[in-house]
Amino acid sequence: MEIDFVRSRFIKHFDGKTGNVYASPGRINLIGEHTDYNGGFVFPGAVDKGIMAEMRANGTEDTVMAYAIDLKDRVDFKLSDPDGPRASWARYIYGIALEMKKLGVPVKGFNIAFAGDVPLGAGMSSSAAMESCFACGLNDIFGENKVSQWDMVLAGQATEHNYCGVNCGIMDQFASVFGKAGCLMRLDCRSREFEYFPFKPDGYRLVLLDSVVKHQLAGSPYNDRRNSCENVVKHIQAKHPEGKFETLRDCTWEQLDEVRAEVGEEDYKRAKFVLGEKDRVLGVCEALNEGDYEKVGELMYQTHEGLSKDYEVSCEELDFLNDIAKECGVTGSRIMGGGFGGCTINLVRNDLYKNFIATAKQKFNDKYGHEPKVYDVVIGDGSRKLC
Ligand code: GLA
Repeated sequence: MEIDFVRSRFIKHFDGKTGNVYASPGRINLIGEHTDYNGGFVFPGAVDKGIMAEMRANGTEDTVMAYAIDLKDRVDFKLSDPDGPRASWARYIYGIALEMKKLGVPVKGFNIAFAGDVPLGAGMSSSAAMESCFACGLNDIFGENKVSQWDMVLAGQATEHNYCGVNCGIMDQFASVFGKAGCLMRLDCRSREFEYFPFKPDGYRLVLLDSVVKHQLAGSPYNDRRNSCENVVKHIQAKHPEGKFETLRDCTWEQLDEVRAEVGEEDYKRAKFVLGEKDRVLGVCEALNEGDYEKVGELMYQTHEGLSKDYEVSCEELDFLNDIAKECGVTGSRIMGGGFGGCTINLVRNDLYKNFIATAKQKFNDKYGHEPKVYDVVIGDGSRKLC
């Protein structure tokens, strides 16, 4: 995406003056799904696609004039309006502005125009890209950049919780803020320690296949999954008052089995997936250190199976894409992100790539009447000011 494109719209839709331009990426996640809000590990990386915004203080006390370039939609609102704007995209701006204010940034009225090339609803975190991009801009324009990167991550997450109805974890905002070109990041979501993992698999590549089934987390069963996990933790805590159980990270397989009957099969299966997924992330790290990509792939398939059968966040189209990957000899394939639609992430040997893509397109088209979209993964940088 070009700065000039965003700038020309910013100038046209407001008073002809320019502002500053910021960019933040979407993300992929190699493995570690639905583990972030369970205190587990995740393994994301930023992508080369995201959101770009031009922003400028407009001299008013609290009037925001916002233009969504891709939607050709203009919304003006006041930060002091307790309800905020209705348009879902504008709620990200309203929410992050109020969250940044809570962090001590004296946000006043501003103009903003933004555009994106991260596909919406594909499970690549277009919403986190918006939150971190706007946070980065507000921090720069009004806050002398005094808010730390971690606080911006948390402000993005709080925006989802408080204004958008999604009780998400911290993976997406973390990846968008901290991303680094060429590197995946292994994050411990409990301690928030992380390390950069250079990712250049020799002879393999990562590709996303987008089912184009719109994934929508707001008001969705996403929050139900989280509630199930918290319910299991509550029961384990009640059985073991001597211990401290904050998330499933603190629970063992034995403890989970102890509460199986009382929490019921649905919650049990969900928690079982999470415990397994925590171990799989560590398994992937080990396999990467040994250059064992076949092992990485095997674990990805296991994750898909768990997300589909136990966590129940897949859909027919994603399972179909996963089956095609298996048939084509793809090393690893699984649903990526929250689920309920969106993409599969595939680790493919270079020599199989062409056939895989052609087969997936053809078979998917035969069955669903359209091809999946194909995104080759390029791991890019996190939030930044462009000019
Ligand atoms: C969404 C959420 C994240 C994470 C993933 C699943 O992307 O925003 O916090 O829970 O789903 O891993």
